[in-house]
Amino acid sequence: MKLVKATHLNGTIAVPADKSISHRSIMFGALAKGKTTVRNFLRGEDCYSTLHAFQQLGVPIHDDGETITIEGQGFDGLKAATAAIDIGNSGTTIRLMMGILAGQSFETTLYGDASLNRRPMNRVMLPLREMGAQLKGDQETEYPPITVSGTGSLHPITYQMPVASAQVKSAIIFAALQAQGTSTIVEKEVSRNHTEDMIRQFGGTITTEGKTITVTGPQTLHGQEVIVPGDISSAAFFLTAGAMMPDSKITLTNVGINPTRTGIIDVLEEMGADLTLREQDNQNQSATIDIRSSSLKGVTIAGDIIPRLIDELPIIALLATQAEGTTIIKDAEELKVKETNRIDATAEELQQLGADITPTADGLIIHGPTKLHGGQVSSRGDHRIGMMLQIAALLTDEDVELARAEAVAVSYPDFFDDVRTLAQGGETK
Ligand code: S3P
Repeated sequence: MKLVKATHLNGTIAVPADKSISHRSIMFGALAKGKTTVRNFLRGEDCYSTLHAFQQLGVPIHDDGETITIEGQGFDGLKAATAAIDIGNSGTTIRLMMGILAGQSFETTLYGDASLNRRPMNRVMLPLREMGAQLKGDQETEYPPITVSGTGSLHPITYQMPVASAQVKSAIIFAALQAQGTSTIVEKEVSRNHTEDMIRQFGGTITTEGKTITVTGPQTLHGQEVIVPGDISSAAFFLTAGAMMPDSKITLTNVGINPTRTGIIDVLEEMGADLTLREQDNQNQSATIDIRSSSLKGVTIAGDIIPRLIDELPIIALLATQAEGTTIIKDAEELKVKETNRIDATAEELQQLGADITPTADGLIIHGPTKLHGGQVSSRGDHRIGMMLQIAALLTDEDVELARAEAVAVSYPDFFDDVRTLAQGGETK
């Protein structure tokens, strides 16, 4: 498609719901006893993959278009699916479900689209096997389809995580909630903690001390009313666009500000962006953020901040093309195993538009500022690459043609409409 053009962006956007929390709201709702309601559920393809997967496991889930209602079955109430379950593009769904299914006394096969079927699953299979479940990849590889033969008698685990990954951590926690005894998980770096927060919200117990998480099973969870805050990873496209574009001022409402997710705000501030947080709601962990055109400088992004902004690195790389000086992104090798290899995709697609960006083994080096030009680019089937390229297209007067634009529906179905709204200086919803 031909991407939207704009000279400046102005207006207010209600940020779409958080993808990580939406997935988990279905999972916890299904595994709790009693009714869970979810308001502001993200109506993106990935979250529907989770919803449909739990319906296939015998969980009644109703959607009246506004609220999702889940008739929770408890950890012991899931039923074997009658066929293999299609997980689509969603890494969070498949990995967290592997942990859930590890404790179930039946066999389930999970498969995905071409991208998901290339993503590594050993990181989850190895600890779950140690806990007593059997998991097999396609033709003995570590890739989906994955068949999980669960067991009602999982053992607890003491596990030092080799990767900083909330998906791996969460899969182990879901298994540990079903095991007999106390599990200890030590993170490589602190990653998003929505699973831990939601265990407490659903009446369970889990302790966190620095990088060490302790959880004792078996536990019984109870249905709750969940209101999903907006996704800072979706807000990131407009936070950066507002800072980069001239004569722009954007207000983003209902932005999730869980501290394990706010690395993007720290980086924007360090680069010199003019942004303000207001109407902070600590209960719902959300805020309104105003961002204005800013003069930006290059920075180094490395170490323990990386998991706090892992999904924002493609758009941060674009931001760096408009900053004075050099930006170095390091310690981000995990980007290679996302929906695409995001180190290569970000570098190669932005090079098509004239950016001075070089891929490295664990990140990117960007020299700025550069005037971008038009060209032909592709999302490569990756929602975040597609959205980043639309924001890049706003920085040139020339035409940018995006292949595989439909990928953005994975996390932000109204994204192009919201860009148009801001280009016309308006408001959404
Ligand atoms: C997610 C964790 C992250 C992130 C993904 C969502 C989650 O993946 O990239 O978009 O909801 O737990 P990793 O755990 O593989 O880093």
